Amino acid sequence: MVLLVTGGAGFIGANFIFDMLRRHADCRIVCLDKLTYAGRLETLAPVMDDPRFRFVRGDIADREAVLRLMQRERPDAVVNFAAESHVDRSIEDPGVFLRTNILGTAALMDACLRCGTARFHQVSTDEVYGDLPLDQPGLRFGEQSPLRASSPYAASKASADLLVMAYVRTYGLNATISRSANNYGPHQHGEKLIPRMIACALAGEPLPVYGTGENVRDWLHVTDHCAAIDLILRRGRAGEIYNVGAGCERSNIDLVRMICRELGCPQERIALVPDRPGHDLRYAVDTDKIRRELGWRPQVEFEQGMRETIRWYAGGRG
Ligand SMILES: NC(=O)c1ccc[n+]([C@@H]2O[C@H](COP(=O)([O-])OP(=O)(O)OC[C@H]3O[C@@H](n4cnc5c(N)ncnc54)[C@H](O)[C@@H]3O)[C@@H](O)[C@H]2O)c1
Repeated sequence: MVLLVTGGAGFIGANFIFDMLRRHADCRIVCLDKLTYAGRLETLAPVMDDPRFRFVRGDIADREAVLRLMQRERPDAVVNFAAESHVDRSIEDPGVFLRTNILGTAALMDACLRCGTARFHQVSTDEVYGDLPLDQPGLRFGEQSPLRASSPYAASKASADLLVMAYVRTYGLNATISRSANNYGPHQHGEKLIPRMIACALAGEPLPVYGTGENVRDWLHVTDHCAAIDLILRRGRAGEIYNVGAGCERSNIDLVRMICRELGCPQERIALVPDRPGHDLRYAVDTDKIRRELGWRPQVEFEQGMRETIRWYAGGRG
């Protein structure tokens, strides 16, 4: 199987490439990545010499370049991780989010149609559903819940999801979508919550937490997310959306306290800072569909996964 993996020099894409090459001896991967500020070629060093892997620097929104690459490589499937992914940046400057996340996704799907590519998978997020209140812990978003994105980032991802579903219906594209909870694990960019808090704790600096820190996220280890995408690629039904989450909800403040405990950092260094505009309160997804249809289960226990993640960054590899 030949896979075109976009955004593979980023956090989840790189972990996906490592896992796929480890799990499937017959898998060949071409990675297309623009190497924006978020992409690090060094992350891919462990697979650069693998004859089954090839890196191509390029922009998913560059339609001609994407088409040329797909005509040359003839992938069996495209997995689209490439995105602008940081909510705060999308609030400051939404334009590039619309270009990459929406037009880039369309360019990839058009190339799939032109090349007769058998499969397309869109890596999306639970943020497309908007948020849930904090005082109704039983509520969860299902795959059919309405799209109510709060940030320009989430709106751009929701727009891409709508386009994917339209391409399935209009052109018969064999596409699937996964909507994942927040991921944690190695190789995440230093601007994201967990690596940032670890870096601040280690540097003896204040740990800035938005608002009251009560906002709740469901944390999923990145390898569990990658395993879900692998399953969806091989056994998912065309035109279907699959929520992916661990049901492991933690408030931001509890998560940061845990990091402090692990690193022996005094809790007094946690500094509450003015809230992000439109900050979502709680994310939680119902994952019954992927569990029932594909037999997926998260494997990594949260406390253990977090301890390993903290040690990984503290070891200077972040
Ligand atoms: N991180 C999470 O917790 C999370 C949760 C759910 C869904 N997602 C989704 O998973 C995907 C990957 O997220 P991540 O956290 O690994 O992101 P990331 O920011 O770490 O990596 C994004 C990668 O995409 C590349 N890229 C950006 N624009 C590009 C373009 N125009 N052309 C080609 N490459 C481009 C970057 O260089 C980078 O390597 C995204 O689509 C994101 O929306 C992330």
